[in-house]
Amino acid sequence: MDLVRKTFDEWAQNGKAELMEQEHGKNVSKFLEKISFKKQFSFLDVGCGNGWVIRKVSTNPKCRKAVGIDKSKRMIIQAKKNKKNSNEEYIHTTIESWKYSGKFDFIFAMESIYYADSIEVALKQIYKLLKHGGQFFCGIDFYLENKATTKWSKLMKVQMHLHSKRQWKQFFVDAGFETKTKHIKDLKSKKKWKREFGTLFIIGKK
Ligand SMILES: C[S@@+](CC[C@H](N)C(=O)[O-])C[C@H]1O[C@@H](n2cnc3c(N)ncnc32)[C@H](O)[C@@H]1O
Repeated sequence: MDLVRKTFDEWAQNGKAELMEQEHGKNVSKFLEKISFKKQFSFLDVGCGNGWVIRKVSTNPKCRKAVGIDKSKRMIIQAKKNKKNSNEEYIHTTIESWKYSGKFDFIFAMESIYYADSIEVALKQIYKLLKHGGQFFCGIDFYLENKATTKWSKLMKVQMHLHSKRQWKQFFVDAGFETKTKHIKDLKSKKKWKREFGTLFIIGKK
């Protein structure tokens, strides 16, 4: 049994999916508000959890299609239950094994890529799924410089690949992306790491 899948199947049923939505919501919204969705676009969320980012993005009038994928079947069941808009779609699959012939303008992932068996394989697949000129936004709270979060892997007891900001950038460069980074902090948070380090976004352009 895949422990990552098992853990998030449990989280989908014990309220932790909604807790993640609350925990990640502020920084993700802050980041997404800065993106200018100028033309009609398609959007993919890798490791979408209960689908909260897809529900949010799909309300943008320029959003043609918003697809959420997750390796946890229970998360996908929750996401489908919460579906509000006709342009939302949810699929139970891992990013690594997904056979999809289309391509997206934007791909997003929040706190999901470091659970992949291989970050390199996941990024290669994401690169393939992007249109030329498209962008991948990858939000990470669990990174080496953000000391307070590094203990999460012991608490979670599942595979979580811990890397520094420099290493993350290198993964993106090696996958073929033009790469930038951005820290989104929450200066009002009670949590010191959210005020001082915040969410690291790696932005990869194809
Ligand atoms: C920490 S949760 C984050 C969920 C959501 N992005 C959020 O911010 O609330 C990580 C999610 O990624 C999913 N996941 C982990 N590895 C995956 C993979 N290789 N392919 C697809 N989904 C994956 C998990 O099942 C889980 O739902």
